[in-house]
Amino acid sequence: MKRCALVTGGSRGIGAATALALAARGYDVAITYRSQRLAAEGVAAEVERLGRKAVVLQADLADPARAREVVREAADALGGLHALVNNAGYVQRMPWDEISLEDWNRMIGVTLTAAFITAQVAAPYMMEAGFGRIVNVSSLRALTGSAHGVHYAAAKAGLLGLTKSLALALAPHGITVNAVCPGFTATDMNREVLEKRGDEIRAQIPLGRAAEPKEVAAVVSFLCSEEASYITGETISVNGGIRMG
Ligand SMILES: NC(=O)c1ccc[n+]([C@@H]2O[C@H](COP(=O)([O-])OP(=O)(O)OC[C@H]3O[C@@H](n4cnc5c(N)ncnc54)[C@H](OP(=O)(O)O)[C@@H]3O)[C@@H](O)[C@H]2O)c1
Repeated sequence: MKRCALVTGGSRGIGAATALALAARGYDVAITYRSQRLAAEGVAAEVERLGRKAVVLQADLADPARAREVVREAADALGGLHALVNNAGYVQRMPWDEISLEDWNRMIGVTLTAAFITAQVAAPYMMEAGFGRIVNVSSLRALTGSAHGVHYAAAKAGLLGLTKSLALALAPHGITVNAVCPGFTATDMNREVLEKRGDEIRAQIPLGRAAEPKEVAAVVSFLCSEEASYITGETISVNGGIRMG
């Protein structure tokens, strides 16, 4: 059966690994990037090597109009939409009392508002197809809080509330909505932190290492699969045991 997915922020890291994992599961995949076009095209070429169609779309998801548009472009280019992975994100480490309203609004916009908008536009395609999977990539920080990224942690926690609420709203249509909370994952996002404080961080992780992006992608792509049909409204941590329960 034809399956089409949109992965936001699919040019690098967890999003790139997710695009490949979805392609391996038989999905044609559209990925978005903000500025790294070449990286996105590299991921698309890998998706095509797996025998699936790939579409590359530019979108700064701080712009709600663009968030809305890019879902339609993905569905038009792929010929439908069965899975949406809201993965795009960024961190901004700073003391909480130095976060400006602009910083706050941008973080909420890219992380939370964009996920709401993309789900709103994607759901009708899924209803039409009679199959739908939405996965929101949240964070360990949604569960623990973060003194150095208050807006990041708040936006990621909001994503968990959005996940449960959409799961309730979309269950009657057979669309599942889940969240994944990665812990420390070896991507560009925290390369610097892992270089500077790697030993200290690894010492706090029961499995003793950061995750590889593909270890997070495996869970995201499973949640997008047929087999995950009875899981909805859940938050699954992929964190090496650094926070349990
Ligand atoms: N790495 C971790 O340890 C970790 C832990 C917990 C949660 N997460 C979450 O996992 C997701 C992926 O993180 P990652 O580590 O893979 O990050 P990454 O390697 O830095 O990749 C971030 C992706 O998001 C895109 N992006 C960034 N800002 C954007 C914007 N304003 N509009 C549209 N796209 C934007 C980037 O596009 P360009 O390539 O064009 O810049 C890139 O594709 C994020 O939501 C992050 O919060 C990561």
